[in-house]
Amino acid sequence: MYIKKGDARNLEFIPDESIDLICTHPPYADIIKYSDGIDGDLSRLKVKDFLEEMKKVADESYRVLKKDKFCAVLMGDTRQKGHMIPMSFEVMKNFQDAGFKLKEIIIKEQHNCRATGYWKTNSVKYNFLLIAHEYLFVFRK
Ligand SMILES: C[S@@+](CC[C@H](N)C(=O)[O-])C[C@H]1O[C@@H](n2cnc3c(N)ncnc32)[C@H](O)[C@@H]1O
Repeated sequence: MYIKKGDARNLEFIPDESIDLICTHPPYADIIKYSDGIDGDLSRLKVKDFLEEMKKVADESYRVLKKDKFCAVLMGDTRQKGHMIPMSFEVMKNFQDAGFKLKEIIIKEQHNCRATGYWKTNSVKYNFLLIAHEYLFVFRK
């Protein structure tokens, strides 16, 4: 489901504390575009705006989840101008700020990604390591 930019209310149809488990794998800002411009497409936002929207996702996730239940968020990082942008930890903080307690951090290795060829060439040319993992943050309400 698409959450409109600046409007987290379209989860309003879900009552408070009614969900048993949340598993989500959001897009990572504008790394892969998932639409040609659907309003509310988080994958078209730059990092700063993406993180602002993810605060609303965190708040809404906290609202709808039942007490003591789990919310799992799979997130990766990105690199800009040769430097790491640790988006995953920013998102983790959003969920903690929403009220969640961090139960586990699980590292998921990843191989043979679509962009591996491009990044592999550039990593050698510009001397940086490839990002080859994502974090699965497991939160408890
Ligand atoms: C990183 S991918 C995760 C894919 C997932 N692991 C799977 O196997 O289907 C992010 C997914 O979130 C979806 N999505 C849902 N709501 C979205 C939103 N508001 N903005 C951008 N992507 C959204 C995209 O279409 C995309 O399939």
